[in-house]
Amino acid sequence: MATYYPPFRKQSPYLPFGEQRTGRFYGKDILSVKQFNRADLEYIFGVAHEMREMVERIGTFDLLKGKILANLFYEPSTRTSSSFTAAMERLGGSVIPINEVRYSSVAKGESLPDTVRTLECYADVIVLRHPEIGASALAAQYARKPIINAGDGVGEHPTQALLDLFTIVSELNQVDGLTVTMLGDLKYGRTVHSLARLLSLYDVKLNYVSPEILRMPAEIIQELNEKNIVQKEFTTLDEVLPQTDVLYVTRVQKERFENMDEYESVKDAYVITPEVMREAKDRMIVMHPLPRVGEISMEFDNDPRAAYFRQMEYGLYVRMALLAMVLGRA
Ligand code: CP
Repeated sequence: MATYYPPFRKQSPYLPFGEQRTGRFYGKDILSVKQFNRADLEYIFGVAHEMREMVERIGTFDLLKGKILANLFYEPSTRTSSSFTAAMERLGGSVIPINEVRYSSVAKGESLPDTVRTLECYADVIVLRHPEIGASALAAQYARKPIINAGDGVGEHPTQALLDLFTIVSELNQVDGLTVTMLGDLKYGRTVHSLARLLSLYDVKLNYVSPEILRMPAEIIQELNEKNIVQKEFTTLDEVLPQTDVLYVTRVQKERFENMDEYESVKDAYVITPEVMREAKDRMIVMHPLPRVGEISMEFDNDPRAAYFRQMEYGLYVRMALLAMVLGRA
Protein backbone atom coordinates (compact mmCIF):
# COMPACT_ATOMS: atom_id res chain seq x y z
CA MET A 1 0.00 0.00 0.00
CA ALA A 2 1.33 3.46 -0.94
CA THR A 3 2.41 5.79 1.87
CA TYR A 4 0.10 8.77 2.30
CA TYR A 5 1.76 12.16 2.72
CA PRO A 6 -0.71 14.84 3.83
CA PRO A 7 -0.41 17.56 1.17
CA PHE A 8 -0.82 20.53 3.48
CA ARG A 9 1.58 19.58 6.28
CA LYS A 10 4.15 22.34 6.52
CA GLN A 11 5.97 21.50 9.73
CA SER A 12 7.90 18.31 10.23
CA PRO A 13 7.48 16.92 13.76
CA TYR A 14 10.93 15.40 13.42
CA LEU A 15 13.74 17.87 14.07
CA PRO A 16 17.43 17.07 13.89
CA PHE A 17 18.93 16.42 17.35
CA GLY A 18 19.33 19.62 19.36
CA GLU A 19 17.51 21.80 16.83
CA GLN A 20 14.85 24.22 18.02
CA ARG A 21 12.43 26.10 15.80
CA THR A 22 10.08 28.79 16.92
CA GLY A 23 8.06 31.73 15.74
CA ARG A 24 4.65 32.50 14.32
CA PHE A 25 5.90 32.22 10.72
CA TYR A 26 7.71 28.92 11.14
CA GLY A 27 6.77 26.58 8.29
CA LYS A 28 4.37 29.10 6.74
CA ASP A 29 4.04 30.05 3.08
CA ILE A 30 4.38 33.71 2.07
CA LEU A 31 1.85 34.00 -0.75
CA SER A 32 0.05 37.34 -0.44
CA VAL A 33 0.27 40.53 1.59
CA LYS A 34 -3.30 39.79 2.67
CA GLN A 35 -1.90 37.36 5.24
CA PHE A 36 -0.19 40.12 7.28
CA ASN A 37 -1.49 42.49 9.95
CA ARG A 38 0.30 45.48 11.46
CA ALA A 39 1.73 43.44 14.32
CA ASP A 40 3.22 40.99 11.79
CA LEU A 41 4.81 43.86 9.89
CA GLU A 42 6.35 45.34 13.04
CA TYR A 43 7.77 41.92 13.84
CA ILE A 44 9.19 41.41 10.32
CA PHE A 45 10.71 44.88 10.25
CA GLY A 46 12.22 44.36 13.72
CA VAL A 47 13.93 41.19 12.48
CA ALA A 48 14.99 42.93 9.23
CA HIS A 49 16.51 45.74 11.30
CA GLU A 50 18.51 43.19 13.30
CA MET A 51 19.64 41.54 10.06
CA ARG A 52 20.89 44.89 8.82
CA GLU A 53 22.90 45.44 12.00
CA MET A 54 24.39 41.94 11.76
CA VAL A 55 25.36 42.38 8.09
CA GLU A 56 26.93 45.76 8.84
CA ARG A 57 28.84 44.33 11.83
CA ILE A 58 29.93 40.89 10.64
CA GLY A 59 28.70 40.41 7.07
CA THR A 60 27.85 36.70 7.10
CA PHE A 61 26.75 34.51 10.00
CA ASP A 62 25.49 30.97 10.60
CA LEU A 63 21.82 31.36 11.53
CA LEU A 64 20.71 29.09 8.66
CA LYS A 65 23.82 26.96 8.37
CA GLY A 66 22.94 23.66 6.69
CA LYS A 67 19.67 24.98 5.24
CA ILE A 68 19.02 25.00 1.50
CA LEU A 69 16.87 27.37 -0.57
CA ALA A 70 15.55 26.41 -4.02
CA ASN A 71 15.23 29.55 -6.18
CA LEU A 72 12.73 28.56 -8.91
CA PHE A 73 12.24 31.34 -11.47
CA TYR A 74 10.00 30.87 -14.54
CA GLU A 75 10.36 34.60 -15.38
CA PRO A 76 13.47 36.81 -15.58
CA SER A 77 14.75 38.46 -12.40
CA THR A 78 17.85 40.26 -11.21
CA ARG A 79 16.94 41.72 -7.81
CA THR A 80 14.54 39.15 -6.35
CA SER A 81 16.60 36.17 -7.41
CA SER A 82 19.99 37.54 -6.41
CA SER A 83 18.79 39.12 -3.16
CA PHE A 84 17.25 35.81 -2.01
CA THR A 85 20.54 34.10 -2.93
CA ALA A 86 22.54 36.73 -1.05
CA ALA A 87 20.12 36.54 1.90
CA MET A 88 20.51 32.76 2.21
CA GLU A 89 24.27 32.89 1.84
CA ARG A 90 24.67 35.73 4.34
CA LEU A 91 22.77 33.52 6.80
CA GLY A 92 25.18 30.64 6.18
CA GLY A 93 22.83 28.55 4.02
CA SER A 94 23.10 27.52 0.39
CA VAL A 95 21.00 27.81 -2.77
CA ILE A 96 19.83 25.61 -5.65
CA PRO A 97 19.45 28.17 -8.47
CA ILE A 98 16.93 27.41 -11.23
CA ASN A 99 16.86 30.75 -12.96
CA GLU A 100 16.30 29.38 -16.44
CA VAL A 101 13.56 26.77 -16.29
CA ARG A 102 14.13 25.88 -19.94
CA TYR A 103 17.28 24.07 -18.82
CA SER A 104 15.31 22.11 -16.19
CA SER A 105 12.76 19.32 -16.61
CA VAL A 106 10.08 22.01 -16.99
CA ALA A 107 11.23 22.07 -20.63
CA LYS A 108 10.19 18.39 -20.88
CA GLY A 109 6.69 19.29 -19.73
CA GLU A 110 6.97 18.69 -15.99
CA SER A 111 4.09 20.29 -14.09
CA LEU A 112 4.53 22.93 -11.39
CA PRO A 113 3.26 20.58 -8.63
CA ASP A 114 5.77 17.90 -9.65
CA THR A 115 8.59 20.44 -9.89
CA VAL A 116 8.01 21.74 -6.35
CA ARG A 117 7.57 18.19 -5.03
CA THR A 118 10.97 17.43 -6.56
CA LEU A 119 12.74 20.48 -5.18
CA GLU A 120 11.41 20.02 -1.67
CA CYS A 121 13.22 16.68 -1.55
CA TYR A 122 16.46 18.66 -1.69
CA ALA A 123 15.63 22.07 -0.19
CA ASP A 124 14.06 23.46 3.00
CA VAL A 125 12.25 26.40 1.37
CA ILE A 126 11.26 27.29 -2.21
CA VAL A 127 11.14 30.80 -3.69
CA LEU A 128 8.93 30.82 -6.80
CA ARG A 129 8.40 33.34 -9.59
CA HIS A 130 5.86 32.33 -12.23
CA PRO A 131 3.95 34.13 -15.02
CA GLU A 132 0.49 32.95 -13.86
CA ILE A 133 -1.65 34.47 -11.12
CA GLY A 134 -2.13 31.97 -8.30
CA ALA A 135 0.89 29.80 -9.24
CA SER A 136 2.46 30.14 -5.77
CA ALA A 137 -0.81 29.25 -4.07
CA LEU A 138 -1.05 26.17 -6.29
CA ALA A 139 2.55 25.20 -5.50
CA ALA A 140 1.85 25.65 -1.79
CA GLN A 141 -1.02 23.17 -1.97
CA TYR A 142 1.38 20.46 -3.07
CA ALA A 143 4.55 21.40 -1.17
CA ARG A 144 5.23 20.34 2.39
CA LYS A 145 8.01 22.95 2.65
CA PRO A 146 7.35 26.72 2.72
CA ILE A 147 6.72 28.47 -0.61
CA ILE A 148 7.60 32.15 -0.94
CA ASN A 149 5.85 33.99 -3.77
CA ALA A 150 8.44 36.01 -5.72
CA GLY A 151 5.83 37.33 -8.18
CA ASP A 152 2.88 35.52 -9.80
CA GLY A 153 2.12 37.12 -13.15
CA VAL A 154 0.21 40.37 -12.72
CA GLY A 155 -1.02 39.15 -9.32
CA GLU A 156 1.17 39.87 -6.31
CA HIS A 157 4.79 40.36 -5.29
CA PRO A 158 4.50 40.23 -1.50
CA THR A 159 8.19 40.27 -0.59
CA GLN A 160 8.64 43.35 -2.78
CA ALA A 161 5.78 45.08 -0.95
CA LEU A 162 7.34 44.18 2.39
CA LEU A 163 10.69 45.65 1.35
CA ASP A 164 8.91 48.70 -0.08
CA LEU A 165 7.18 49.33 3.21
CA PHE A 166 10.41 48.71 5.14
CA THR A 167 12.02 51.33 2.88
CA ILE A 168 9.29 53.86 3.72
CA VAL A 169 9.58 53.17 7.46
CA SER A 170 13.37 53.32 7.37
CA GLU A 171 13.53 56.52 5.30
CA LEU A 172 10.59 58.52 6.65
CA ASN A 173 10.10 56.97 10.13
CA GLN A 174 6.34 56.76 9.67
CA VAL A 175 3.59 55.38 7.47
CA ASP A 176 0.44 56.80 9.06
CA GLY A 177 -0.35 60.24 7.68
CA LEU A 178 1.59 59.85 4.43
CA THR A 179 0.38 60.58 0.92
CA VAL A 180 1.65 57.90 -1.47
CA THR A 181 1.43 58.49 -5.22
CA MET A 182 1.75 55.46 -7.52
CA LEU A 183 2.75 56.34 -11.08
CA GLY A 184 2.86 54.47 -14.37
CA ASP A 185 1.63 50.97 -15.15
CA LEU A 186 -0.83 50.31 -12.35
CA LYS A 187 -2.73 47.68 -14.34
CA TYR A 188 0.05 45.15 -14.87
CA GLY A 189 2.41 46.24 -12.08
CA ARG A 190 2.07 43.53 -9.43
CA THR A 191 4.30 45.49 -7.03
CA VAL A 192 1.74 48.30 -6.79
CA HIS A 193 -1.08 45.80 -6.27
CA SER A 194 0.70 44.32 -3.27
CA LEU A 195 1.91 47.65 -1.91
CA ALA A 196 -1.54 49.28 -2.10
CA ARG A 197 -3.01 46.37 -0.14
CA LEU A 198 -0.27 46.54 2.48
CA LEU A 199 -0.61 50.31 2.86
CA SER A 200 -4.33 49.85 3.51
CA LEU A 201 -3.36 48.66 7.00
CA TYR A 202 -2.31 52.27 7.71
CA ASP A 203 -3.87 55.71 7.68
CA VAL A 204 -2.64 56.80 4.25
CA LYS A 205 -3.92 58.68 1.21
CA LEU A 206 -3.29 56.99 -2.14
CA ASN A 207 -3.06 58.73 -5.52
CA TYR A 208 -3.01 56.62 -8.68
CA VAL A 209 -1.52 58.39 -11.72
CA SER A 210 -1.64 56.40 -14.95
CA PRO A 211 -2.69 56.45 -18.60
CA GLU A 212 -6.37 55.53 -18.98
CA ILE A 213 -5.54 52.02 -20.25
CA LEU A 214 -3.21 51.27 -17.30
CA ARG A 215 -5.46 52.20 -14.38
CA MET A 216 -5.32 50.42 -11.02
CA PRO A 217 -7.62 47.34 -11.24
CA ALA A 218 -11.16 48.01 -10.04
CA GLU A 219 -11.09 45.10 -7.59
CA ILE A 220 -8.14 46.60 -5.71
CA ILE A 221 -9.82 50.03 -5.55
CA GLN A 222 -12.99 48.34 -4.30
CA GLU A 223 -11.06 46.31 -1.72
CA LEU A 224 -9.42 49.46 -0.33
CA ASN A 225 -12.68 51.45 -0.43
CA GLU A 226 -14.12 48.86 1.92
CA LYS A 227 -11.30 49.75 4.32
CA ASN A 228 -12.10 53.49 3.97
CA ILE A 229 -8.76 54.31 2.33
CA VAL A 230 -8.86 57.65 0.47
CA GLN A 231 -7.93 56.87 -3.16
CA LYS A 232 -7.90 59.28 -6.12
CA GLU A 233 -7.12 58.65 -9.78
CA PHE A 234 -5.33 61.05 -12.15
CA THR A 235 -3.80 61.03 -15.62
CA THR A 236 -1.18 63.72 -14.90
CA LEU A 237 1.29 64.07 -12.06
CA ASP A 238 1.39 67.88 -11.64
CA GLU A 239 -1.72 68.08 -9.51
CA VAL A 240 -0.54 65.66 -6.84
CA LEU A 241 3.25 65.90 -6.81
CA PRO A 242 3.50 68.84 -4.38
CA GLN A 243 1.55 66.93 -1.67
CA THR A 244 3.30 63.61 -2.22
CA ASP A 245 5.49 62.02 0.50
CA VAL A 246 6.29 58.84 -1.44
CA LEU A 247 6.35 58.80 -5.24
CA TYR A 248 6.31 55.15 -6.34
CA VAL A 249 7.27 54.99 -10.03
CA THR A 250 6.72 51.86 -12.13
CA ARG A 251 7.86 50.64 -15.53
CA VAL A 252 5.28 50.16 -18.29
CA GLN A 253 5.42 46.38 -18.61
CA LYS A 254 5.95 45.74 -22.32
CA GLU A 255 5.92 41.95 -21.84
CA ARG A 256 2.28 42.03 -20.63
CA PHE A 257 0.89 43.83 -23.71
CA GLU A 258 -0.76 41.89 -26.54
CA ASN A 259 -0.98 44.99 -28.76
CA MET A 260 2.41 46.70 -29.29
CA ASP A 261 0.75 49.87 -30.68
CA GLU A 262 -0.94 50.28 -27.31
CA TYR A 263 2.41 49.86 -25.58
CA GLU A 264 4.04 52.47 -27.84
CA SER A 265 1.22 54.91 -27.06
CA VAL A 266 1.87 54.83 -23.29
CA LYS A 267 5.49 53.79 -22.79
CA ASP A 268 6.81 57.35 -22.37
CA ALA A 269 3.76 58.76 -20.59
CA TYR A 270 5.77 59.94 -17.55
CA VAL A 271 9.45 60.70 -17.05
CA ILE A 272 10.80 61.85 -13.69
CA THR A 273 13.56 64.44 -14.15
CA PRO A 274 15.24 66.99 -11.86
CA GLU A 275 12.98 69.67 -13.45
CA VAL A 276 9.79 67.72 -12.70
CA MET A 277 10.96 67.13 -9.11
CA ARG A 278 11.34 70.89 -8.47
CA GLU A 279 7.63 70.85 -7.65
CA ALA A 280 8.01 68.11 -5.02
CA LYS A 281 8.68 68.46 -1.28
CA ASP A 282 12.27 68.52 0.00
CA ARG A 283 11.46 65.75 2.47
CA MET A 284 9.94 62.99 0.38
CA ILE A 285 11.25 59.91 -1.42
CA VAL A 286 11.08 58.53 -4.94
CA MET A 287 10.89 54.73 -5.11
CA HIS A 288 10.90 52.24 -7.99
CA PRO A 289 10.89 48.43 -7.81
CA LEU A 290 13.30 48.45 -10.79
CA PRO A 291 14.28 47.66 -13.49
CA ARG A 292 13.62 51.09 -15.02
CA VAL A 293 13.59 51.71 -18.75
CA GLY A 294 13.51 55.50 -18.94
CA GLU A 295 10.71 56.54 -16.56
CA ILE A 296 13.26 58.04 -14.14
CA SER A 297 16.04 60.06 -15.72
CA MET A 298 19.56 59.09 -14.57
CA GLU A 299 20.13 62.80 -13.92
CA PHE A 300 17.90 62.46 -10.86
CA ASP A 301 19.92 59.59 -9.34
CA ASN A 302 22.15 61.79 -7.15
CA ASP A 303 19.22 63.63 -5.59
CA PRO A 304 18.92 62.59 -1.89
CA ARG A 305 15.21 61.92 -2.49
CA ALA A 306 16.08 59.16 -4.99
CA ALA A 307 15.59 56.12 -2.73
CA TYR A 308 15.41 53.39 -5.39
CA PHE A 309 18.95 52.09 -5.00
CA ARG A 310 18.71 52.12 -1.19
CA GLN A 311 15.37 50.29 -1.61
CA MET A 312 17.18 47.30 -3.16
CA GLU A 313 19.48 47.04 -0.15
CA TYR A 314 16.54 47.12 2.27
CA GLY A 315 15.26 44.13 0.27
CA LEU A 316 18.24 42.03 1.33
CA TYR A 317 17.46 42.54 5.02
CA VAL A 318 13.73 41.84 4.60
CA ARG A 319 14.42 38.64 2.67
CA MET A 320 16.96 37.53 5.28
CA ALA A 321 14.25 38.09 7.90
CA LEU A 322 11.65 36.12 5.94
CA LEU A 323 13.96 33.14 5.38
CA ALA A 324 14.93 33.05 9.05
CA MET A 325 11.27 33.30 10.06
CA VAL A 326 9.81 30.57 7.83
CA LEU A 327 12.68 28.28 8.84
CA GLY A 328 11.94 28.90 12.52
CA ARG A 329 15.12 30.76 13.41
CA ALA A 330 13.74 34.23 14.14
N1 CP B 1 11.78 44.36 -8.34
C1 CP B 1 11.92 43.15 -8.94
O1 CP B 1 11.11 42.23 -8.77
O2 CP B 1 13.04 43.06 -9.73
P1 CP B 1 13.48 41.75 -10.53
O3 CP B 1 12.44 41.51 -11.59
O4 CP B 1 14.84 42.07 -11.08
O5 CP B 1 13.49 40.60 -9.56
